[in-house]
Amino acid sequence: MSDRLHTLSGYLYEYQKSVSQPEEFWARIADSFFWRKRWNKTLEWNFEKPDVKWFAGGKLNITENIFERQLFTHADQAAIIWEPNDPNEETRTLTYRELYEEVNRFSNALKSKGIQKGDRVIIYMPMVPEAAVAMLACARIGAIHSVVFAGFSASALADRIIDCKAKAVLTSDGNFRGAKKIPVKAVVDEALEKASVESVIVYQRTNQEVTMKEGRDFWWHEVVANESTENKAEEMDSEDMLFILYTSGSTGKPKGVVHTTGGYMVYTKYSFENVFQYSPGDVYWCTADIGWITGHSYIVYGPLLAGATTLMFEGVPTFPDAGRFWQVVEKHQVNQFYTAPTAIRALQAYGTEPIEGNDLSSLKVLGSVGEPINEEAWHWYHTHVGKGKCPIVDTWWQTETGGIMVSPLAGITPTKPAYATLPLPGIQLTIVDADGKELTGNGVEGNLCIKFPWPSMIRTTYGDHERCKQTYFSTYKGMYFTGDGVKRDHDGYYRILGRVDDVINVSGHRMGTAEVENAINEHPLVIESAVVGYPHEVKGQGIYAYVICDMKNRTEENLVAEIKDTVSKIIGPIAKPDKIQIVPGLPKTRSGKIMRRILRKVAEGVTENMGDTSTLLDPEVVEKIIEGRK
Ligand code: WT7
Repeated sequence: MSDRLHTLSGYLYEYQKSVSQPEEFWARIADSFFWRKRWNKTLEWNFEKPDVKWFAGGKLNITENIFERQLFTHADQAAIIWEPNDPNEETRTLTYRELYEEVNRFSNALKSKGIQKGDRVIIYMPMVPEAAVAMLACARIGAIHSVVFAGFSASALADRIIDCKAKAVLTSDGNFRGAKKIPVKAVVDEALEKASVESVIVYQRTNQEVTMKEGRDFWWHEVVANESTENKAEEMDSEDMLFILYTSGSTGKPKGVVHTTGGYMVYTKYSFENVFQYSPGDVYWCTADIGWITGHSYIVYGPLLAGATTLMFEGVPTFPDAGRFWQVVEKHQVNQFYTAPTAIRALQAYGTEPIEGNDLSSLKVLGSVGEPINEEAWHWYHTHVGKGKCPIVDTWWQTETGGIMVSPLAGITPTKPAYATLPLPGIQLTIVDADGKELTGNGVEGNLCIKFPWPSMIRTTYGDHERCKQTYFSTYKGMYFTGDGVKRDHDGYYRILGRVDDVINVSGHRMGTAEVENAINEHPLVIESAVVGYPHEVKGQGIYAYVICDMKNRTEENLVAEIKDTVSKIIGPIAKPDKIQIVPGLPKTRSGKIMRRILRKVAEGVTENMGDTSTLLDPEVVEKIIEGRK
């Protein structure tokens, strides 16, 4: 662990080096990995195209860096500790050797189903160790995985299968979530009426009844039964695709963010070790789902590359009761705990009683991710969970950045509530105003951009490179635009202010307003809709939908329920609007553009001083909207 930062001055020194000599800096970090062939050129880049290559010509397999590189030292150490949904069910532990053997068996099974290097494989699975096995088995044979959060609907799943032209789907019969049993395979079946794949492999989790299509569907336990526990890893180029992960943007369709092998490997391990200050023997727990980037980078790849013990939790924070997180912390003596502000706020509502009676003294570091953490939640987390002695790492990053970009290093960077603090080494931030002018110095506020490539950055959006260019590299010339607003205070500390585009963040999940509108518009009686975010006590932001409808004989109540159902069907329950207001019209300018600023204000509860409405076609509609607000 020679690349570990231990002091603030050490961080500052390394940061300077990473900016003045980025290639030397990253080459040094990358040299501690196992490459079958070393790279020829550390970095080639052009943000106009965009075209970014890290460690070009280098040959490797990321799983060789998890397993073969560490087997002598880590074979019998726990790689994954799995805590089931139901506390009465037994915990499972897989050592590095066991995980290695499972990955090999399953990668052999994938090959026997005809999956080859470069093929896309959709993973639609619950939080069981086999989900990690599935990801790593794909990486082992060079197949490109695309994990889809198992809460997405059949229609959302089908879109993703079609977009990446997947050859197989890996799934389960069902999924335990709190008191519920969710029929996962049935959703896959429905998706496969629209999309098609060669094979489906089904992991038996809930033992519920499923239909298996002859010749297409296979049981996981049957396909691995006779497979060898050995399998030589496929040789990959540093820039070969590792995975695709779909995420929402400001336009309608989710886009497939592409990450490649070498750079992602180097950055996730480096950032994991430094942000969380993981020490050998620690138990690290990230509560995210593998369906999101946090699960990819900081449950699976980062921790396993670092030889850590990563805890995987199948359940939810409030089942069987609101003390579950803390019971798990005590049971497994968790040292680093990484969760989302929305979970903290949800638990905060239950008071401190569910915490009391659990021994949380193993905790050393607390993490936060996914949305801005408000000061109140920060203090509650710090005082009641961390007992005032655990540093909080408020980690800012994105699906597109692959790894944590701005964050304190635990115990090293002095923290400030609600501040993500300082960039990690190698991350060159800049703040620009609306015209793209860089705002230098401290005490400024604007849009957050990144000026220089970092190893785990997005390479393209799958099947549509132009979209990648337009979305991230065209707003401000020569820079990557994050879509977030930010403030740099007088100490040079960064505070993320939230999205400045038409993206809303609901419980740490990204949702495009256009995507939700498209789903709402699928309801046959909807004529037009406009969706905005509004402050929500637990979720951070809630979804507020203004809808123009042909009421037919429906009551408003019926229609609202039907619209919510429609959104659940098209995207998934996470996108269901919190509030739906049936309106007679939308505030449009003479050129037909919806003035969202007004809709946002009304959703926030503002009813006066709506600002300049002189360009509105029908200013009266605003009065009507205010009268009917929810
Ligand atoms: C967006 C990215 C990164 C993994 C989870 C979400 C917001 C993320 C923070 C934070 C303030 C944050 C940003 C960002 N965000 N972390 N610590 N403080 N905002 O990944 O779905 O790609 O969403 O989440 O707005 O752009 P994602």
